[in-house]
Amino acid sequence: SSHHLRHVDSLATLPSGAGRIPHLNAVILGEALASEENDLVCPSDEFSKQALVPSPQKYLEMYNRSIEDPDGFWSDIASEFYWKKKWGEQVCSENLDVRNGEVKIEWFKGGITNICYNCLDRNVEAGLGDKIAIYWEGNEPGYDGTLTYSELLQKVCQLANYLKDIGVKKGDAVVIYLPMLMELPIAMLACARIGAVHSVVFAGFSAESLSQRIVDCKPKVVITCNAVKRGSKVINLKDIVDAALVESSGNGVSVGVCLTYENESAMKRESTKWKEGRDIWWQDVVPKYPTTCEVEWVDAEDPLFLLYTSGSTGKPKGVLHTTGGYMLYTATTFKYAFDYKPTDIYWCTADCGWITGHSYVTYGPLLNGASVVVFEGAPSYPDSGRCWDIVDKFKVTTFYTAPTLVRSLMREGAEYVTKYSRKSLRVLGSVGEPINPSAWRWFFNVVGDSRCPISDTWWQTETGGFMITPLPGAWPQKPGSATFPFFGVQPVIVDEKGVEIEGECSGYLCIKSSWPGAFRTLYGDHERYETTYFKPFPGYYFTGDGCSRDKDGYHWLTGRVDDVINVSGHRIGTAEVESALVSHPKCAEAAVVGVEHEVKGQGIYAFVTLVEGEPYSEELRKSIILTVRKQIGAFAAPDKIHWAPGLPKTRSGKIMRRILRKIASRQLDELGDTSTLADPSVVDQLISLADT
Ligand code: WTA
Repeated sequence: SSHHLRHVDSLATLPSGAGRIPHLNAVILGEALASEENDLVCPSDEFSKQALVPSPQKYLEMYNRSIEDPDGFWSDIASEFYWKKKWGEQVCSENLDVRNGEVKIEWFKGGITNICYNCLDRNVEAGLGDKIAIYWEGNEPGYDGTLTYSELLQKVCQLANYLKDIGVKKGDAVVIYLPMLMELPIAMLACARIGAVHSVVFAGFSAESLSQRIVDCKPKVVITCNAVKRGSKVINLKDIVDAALVESSGNGVSVGVCLTYENESAMKRESTKWKEGRDIWWQDVVPKYPTTCEVEWVDAEDPLFLLYTSGSTGKPKGVLHTTGGYMLYTATTFKYAFDYKPTDIYWCTADCGWITGHSYVTYGPLLNGASVVVFEGAPSYPDSGRCWDIVDKFKVTTFYTAPTLVRSLMREGAEYVTKYSRKSLRVLGSVGEPINPSAWRWFFNVVGDSRCPISDTWWQTETGGFMITPLPGAWPQKPGSATFPFFGVQPVIVDEKGVEIEGECSGYLCIKSSWPGAFRTLYGDHERYETTYFKPFPGYYFTGDGCSRDKDGYHWLTGRVDDVINVSGHRIGTAEVESALVSHPKCAEAAVVGVEHEVKGQGIYAFVTLVEGEPYSEELRKSIILTVRKQIGAFAAPDKIHWAPGLPKTRSGKIMRRILRKIASRQLDELGDTSTLADPSVVDQLISLADT
């Protein structure tokens, strides 16, 4: 029927467009043919007609302008926001080429604004004061709450006033370690309001990881809560923070204030461990402050936040985003990739501890004046129908999640989905890892009743916002492909030598020239920023991802090409896990690789060499895994410990991960040449120990 997306035999019916870019040619020219391999899913006419970008032609027109006249394109968008003072002559000044000196990216320099003002005050003044900004759903069904834009503004102002009162100033770091309570976006916005730089640490990280981040950015205050319930488990967050603060002091960084929200539904304050003088109950102080608070006006290039992410070496990197460009970029990508309508109710299942929660729970949606669902709990509690229960309860129109959740719900069966109406849904979204075509189909057919386009958004902590993404309604989708670049983004695929390859090809994904949401540096380590991202392929930003482009110009992300693995959409550096493993007293050496995992996308597979004479035992295996949970967090626990009397190394001592990956995935006939190993017999030993 016409309101359902339909499969087509040919795109020849699409009118041919005026502009031509290397991408999208086939679609524009109607050359893309549907076949077994070329599985096209077209938006319904009805959907396309109402879409912000209703056709490939419209996209091309906007895309071409964004590339040919980026200053004009982004200035027009910037004009929709509030600036205390307009930016200078130059919209963008950049050098991405390490051969021409320091890498530098600036957008709207000299422009004075505030992102909190643009999220809240601007929308309240525009008449959205009584519109719901946040629908909060607690872990327990029936435990919920709402905040209108006016109420959210007042809460943010109270916290901002408190922070100012205890001496937090523009440029100061604030660490936030909170679960998905309304207080998490409130805390982020309060920092932004006073020009403080927030650094949210995902509340699943261990005390050691938290402390490592505290020591790196030296916050004046840590904002947390006493405990949280996830599913049927109570997690005592305050204990973790206490341990982290003790460890930080030991490393020379003492935090003066630990502002603690009493999350009563999980734990009463009487049961919370307390350090007088340092710990303050949020509820005792914050509500006493005035509900209005002067905005600290900042430069477009002043830092907004730090977010630590994993790289190929051990130490997490503090990705730094600034204010103006990030504001425009998250707002614009949100608007177009989800075909935003003011009546939408939007739910992103990501936690604000990750970039997705920064850009697409907090900033992007609120900048658009959207109503956002914030969910505290676990998607399978009390049962696997919880997501759809929430969708029906709030009449969610836009549901944005990760492939790992889709796959785990898919395993539970369609009954959990079809029990609920879901008729409010309009657009679906996916992020975090490539979505495999069968999960895509299930998401599309079962969850979306073959009615809702899926925005498979490819991007990174570093990019601030979507880079390659479908625009719902604009063009046919191919399950598993992130399709085409967003406005202003020029993806290129290069070979090992850094030479751009055209047409149908596969290689390393890089980006040519900057976009407003790009990160500006790694906190305190600009050199590492240049080395990691701009030196591998001079002239380009290197993403760390592999990518192929098909004959129709569609992009297919193939996963990381560096030593980063992606577990349930969480980025984990193999080196981080290895360093946690070898901190176990009985572990002499370790090598970690990613293996395919049915639900998580990738699983963590660890080869572990024990200290001389130590016997293998189940108990030891458990205690080694526990060490990783304690050092990084439960989400980084290895799925498999493979005992290794030795590791395959070259004569110069380099571990040959290629061989380990093959052993881990049991592709034993594809081990390749092992003759260059210092000791080729380790391979046979490893194989013989594979299932012990
Ligand atoms: C992967 C998450 C394929 C990719 C926003 C990237 C994806 C890394 C997709 C960034 C997608 C994210 N398709 N791969 N739609 N989205 N990735 O920094 O490998 O946590 O480099 O940002 O996730 O992870 P990060």
